[in-house]
Amino acid sequence: MSIERGRFRRLRRLRQTEGLRRLVRETRLNVEDFIYPLFVVHGRGVRREVGSMPGVYQLSVDQLGAEVEELLELGIGAVLVFGIPAQKDELASEAYDPDGIVQRTVRELKKRAPDLVVITDVCNCEYTSHGHCGIVRDGRIVNDPTLELLARTAVSHAEAGADMVAPSDMMDGRVLAIREALDRAGFIEVPILSYAAKYASAFYGPFREAAESAPAFGDRRSHQMDPGNRREALREIETDIEEGADAIIVKPALAYLDVIAAARERFEVPIAAYNVSGEYAMVKAAARNGWIDEQRVVLELLTGIRRAGAQMIITYHAKDVARWLRSGR
Ligand code: PBG
Ligand code: ZN
Repeated sequence: MSIERGRFRRLRRLRQTEGLRRLVRETRLNVEDFIYPLFVVHGRGVRREVGSMPGVYQLSVDQLGAEVEELLELGIGAVLVFGIPAQKDELASEAYDPDGIVQRTVRELKKRAPDLVVITDVCNCEYTSHGHCGIVRDGRIVNDPTLELLARTAVSHAEAGADMVAPSDMMDGRVLAIREALDRAGFIEVPILSYAAKYASAFYGPFREAAESAPAFGDRRSHQMDPGNRREALREIETDIEEGADAIIVKPALAYLDVIAAARERFEVPIAAYNVSGEYAMVKAAARNGWIDEQRVVLELLTGIRRAGAQMIITYHAKDVARWLRSGR
């Protein structure tokens, strides 16, 4: 060997022991960064596993006490609430009913755990008879009339005690409409976590089973974003920030890490990534078949989401990861 010593970089030096690797690690997962989604249904004693999402359950309100205890014990401090209503209609009435499923859930959660950060998903698709995110006229989702329903829903969530509202509908102008309505109702301190860049994705399939929210006809491509567009995502985020969003979500996460990275470069607001149902289901299915090492794969995926620039991760893996992190991986 005639290569002179010291002429090339020895990057391997810092990889020799776990102690060194841990010291120079740039990105870490923290349980504080997780937001855990909850699906709540009417009734009593309901704890029904979602077929395509092993380990994820539809829960009735009376089951929330045990659920919250588990989350707090694991150090998970935030939840995102989805409700499955008793009745669906054209105007999504239960979405803004003071006694609706989300409103009941929020009151119960805040009673049991005042410090738990309770975030509510604001959309109509779980509540409409046709499963669309807005009011439908002549087969089309009409934007501006839908804003009023969204604003009413957000205010009713705040009245129930929600710490933050998260509009996921992708109507134009919804953040402004919600901000104005919250302010008018006296909730100037309730922040908006906007699903600013939400793509029309096939990865929401299992969620629609969990939330019983699949559209009866058509799809969501007239309001959710086209997967090919990155610059448009930046316009969506900029618009939502201008309208009053306090923090934003990029969704899904794994196929859109470049969008997360670009948003991180450009904007100063906190960014959440939504590691969605289909992403979860793929990992669970492969792990069940023994084809991948679930723990290593999940930690690697979530680390990738953090490395791309998301500081918060909404993920169904949160409980598992909290356990793994606790046991030192
Ligand atoms: C409701 C909503 C959806 C998700 C979050 N909020 C589904 C959709 O837009 O059809 C998806 C979450 C997931 O897949 O985990 N608008
Ligand atoms: Zn929707």
